[in-house]
Amino acid sequence: MPTLLHLDSSLNGANSVSRTISAAFAEHWRTANPDGEYRYRDLAADPLPHLDQAAHGALTTPEADRTAEQRQAWQIIQPLVEDLTAADVVVIGLPMYNFTIPSTVKAWLDRLAVPEFRAGEDGRSVLSDKLFVVTTSRGGSYAPGTPRESYEFQESYLRKYLGFLGVADNLVFVNTEMTLAPYVPALAQFQDVHEKSLADAHATVRELATTGLVPA
Ligand SMILES: Cc1cc2nc3c(=O)[nH]c(=O)nc-3n(C[C@H](O)[C@H](O)[C@H](O)COP(=O)(O)O)c2cc1C
Repeated sequence: MPTLLHLDSSLNGANSVSRTISAAFAEHWRTANPDGEYRYRDLAADPLPHLDQAAHGALTTPEADRTAEQRQAWQIIQPLVEDLTAADVVVIGLPMYNFTIPSTVKAWLDRLAVPEFRAGEDGRSVLSDKLFVVTTSRGGSYAPGTPRESYEFQESYLRKYLGFLGVADNLVFVNTEMTLAPYVPALAQFQDVHEKSLADAHATVRELATTGLVPA
């Protein structure tokens, strides 16, 4: 029985584009996998604490050697590790905040650097065969050739970090751009770019969730 782990992180509730696309993926996946298990975590509604000394120690210390503080810190880490271990497919709704990922997602990622998730010299880990789909949303455009291309630290950062965890080949970013075009007069000229980007994102997640195939 396959398992989908679905995470969201936008502070924008029902108006969120990244949530809309991650939810569309989850809905298509659940239709295609009616017996599948579904797990959901909202990192904006239930934020994880920032990494501290005890949590960092818990990540790097074998269970038998952990201090009382580290054992307590592990209580927060353990369910995150279990969710990811159980998942066959992971979808992450990821808005761009100040050119990068939300700090709530960073707090989650910081707690995943356990030894068993870190890639070995061959670049692989126990996470390598899982499918990761990241539905990003950005107010502007960071596509190749655009003026803001070099400000893109959202997809580029997450690709590197997930690569550190052995996730590279089965990783797909579905980016919806110019999400502020309907609201910001200076961006109104890019409304068509936004609409195409949104339509493409819907089509991509439907295909991905139904086939599970990573586009070449
Ligand atoms: C705190 C904050 C910071 C933002 N920073 C950026 C940014 O650096 N670049 C950008 O293009 N859009 C930025 N935006 C706009 C969001 O990326 C855009 O509204 C996106 O659609 C948010 O995702 P959501 O629709 O899933 O909430 C920012 C929005 C917020 C609330």
